[in-house]
Amino acid sequence: MEPALQNRKATNVFLVGPTGTGKTSTAKQVLEAHFDGRAACVNCWKYRTAHEVLSEILLTFRIPAYARESVGEQVRKLEKLAKSKSLVVYLDEVDRLVDRDLLYVLSRVGIGLVLSSTHYHTLSSLPSRITSSLGLSEIQFPKYTVEETIAIVRDRVEQSVRPGALRTSLLKLSAVLADGDARVALETIRRAALMAEHNNSKRIGLADVKKAAKEANTLRLEYLFSKLNKHQRIVYDALAKRGRLDSGRLYRIYRRSVAKPVVDRAYSHT
Ligand SMILES: Nc1ncnc2c1ncn2[C@@H]1O[C@H](COP(=O)(O)OP(=O)(O)OP(=O)(O)O)[C@@H](O)[C@H]1O
Ligand SMILES: [Mg+2]
Repeated sequence: MEPALQNRKATNVFLVGPTGTGKTSTAKQVLEAHFDGRAACVNCWKYRTAHEVLSEILLTFRIPAYARESVGEQVRKLEKLAKSKSLVVYLDEVDRLVDRDLLYVLSRVGIGLVLSSTHYHTLSSLPSRITSSLGLSEIQFPKYTVEETIAIVRDRVEQSVRPGALRTSLLKLSAVLADGDARVALETIRRAALMAEHNNSKRIGLADVKKAAKEANTLRLEYLFSKLNKHQRIVYDALAKRGRLDSGRLYRIYRRSVAKPVVDRAYSHT
């Protein structure tokens, strides 16, 4: 992305990897540290249409915008700014973006794109005319190793837990049980510390960590479920209940379960 610092267009990048591997934190950290005033971060889970995303971007750059403005007008305003300085737009959870053409439009006006997703198939689900014009470099965020997870958690523990209250072996256990997800590891220790405190104990115990890890892992599932839309949830439930199903049968079950089923392409995208 360095070219953007010399007012040239940044290479478009795609950050991909499982949940809790630092995609959002890394992107935000890099943009805040190096692209202050030239970067906008938008979560496509929250803002899904081109109009919503563009409104957020314009708001970040403090460009006055009106609710009824057309997408075309929004783009023109952004293009004007992009001519005066190179901009970077970070679209987090980009698989949720409804108007995929927006990627092409942003890139065409010279904005560097950072995209991220937990789904490897996000790019392959885009029309090839979009992917080929973006020329994205993929950066993989693999699960954290146990050592990496320990380092991340230790850093927070030093700031938030009384010295000596957490044995190294338990810190390690929390990292192992988190299976490469930093969010789960941090949540495990937070919960374990609260449990110990609740029991008036000066130290976090093995039972606290085990119980907390179970809860934190359940939370991860809920977090992942919360990212599914209604249609995806029906498909998930059908598969969870019946095991392997061929796609035709799965589609028929899905159609029976929902009042307004999505069809063909929208369904395969789901
Ligand atoms: N390298 C790291 N150093 C410190 N904290 C980290 C690091 N990586 C992740 N974390 C912490 O773990 C949590 C999850 O990280 P983050 O939100 O960046 O993951 P993600 O890859 O974007 O996950 P998702 O796909 O679920 O959005 C955050 O609370 C973050 O602060
Ligand atoms: Mg994220």
